Amino acid sequence: MNVFDNLIEYADAAQYDEENSTFEPDGPFFVDLIRQYGQPVLELACGTGRLTIPIAQQGFSITGLDVVSGMLSLAKHKAADLPIEWIEADARRFHLGKQFKVILAGGFFQHLLERADQEAVLAHVRAHLAPDGVFAFNVFFPHADSLEASDVEQEWFSYVNPQGQTVTVSGTDHYDSIRQVRTETAMRRWTEVNGQRHELIAPLQQRLFFPQELEALLHYNGFTILERYGDYDRQPLAEEHRLMIFVCQARR
Ligand SMILES: C[S@@+](CC[C@H](N)C(=O)[O-])C[C@H]1O[C@@H](n2cnc3c(N)ncnc32)[C@H](O)[C@@H]1O
Repeated sequence: MNVFDNLIEYADAAQYDEENSTFEPDGPFFVDLIRQYGQPVLELACGTGRLTIPIAQQGFSITGLDVVSGMLSLAKHKAADLPIEWIEADARRFHLGKQFKVILAGGFFQHLLERADQEAVLAHVRAHLAPDGVFAFNVFFPHADSLEASDVEQEWFSYVNPQGQTVTVSGTDHYDSIRQVRTETAMRRWTEVNGQRHELIAPLQQRLFFPQELEALLHYNGFTILERYGDYDRQPLAEEHRLMIFVCQARR
């Protein structure tokens, strides 16, 4: 599958923003890294600016890059006059002509389904990292239950949108153990006051990485891992965790 065929989940930026609005728990973790390693900062796959905007509000110099123009337009609108540089580009091929002390990518790397895509991103990150800079990113930990399929629709969560309508979000999961790709198909349903019903179906394929595989990928693409955590409180990765968070540096 092409990277661009896998972006349906981000077609409605406002809806994404309603469902993903909190700075915690990852925001403070990235801010601590910026305090430690410095600025400027580049955020890959910044989406609607959930992290970018509060980081800029804290006075840090940050560039936000994303490939979906609707996500960036909403980010720009929300940021108003904040001095953020917004770049519409594919993280597999971007050339900004400057280097960054921190490059961060939250909830992004697992969108890179094929090794060629992962290596292209890592090469461009390397080219944009200052010599003492760090690349910090997270992926899902392939916890045993994330390797199971559930063809029966499960309720995931619900919320009330700005129009006062309750949106229920449910879905199915599928795991392809050869490609190591998990497909979550989200089904969003809501009803307007006039009784009109809406249903939006959005499949999203995400690559699951095993810890040793990711360490090898980083190593053979010229990175040294400084830290590997299992949550944003900096706990060392353990079996119960849902995430793997890597902080790495380019080997020179
Ligand atoms: C789960 S969202 C995360 C957004 C943001 N980082 C956050 O934490 O709220 C994933 C983002 O990755 C972006 N994305 C996916 N593939 C991309 C690519 N090849 N280049 C740049 N952005 C990409 C999507 O447009 C989307 O905004």
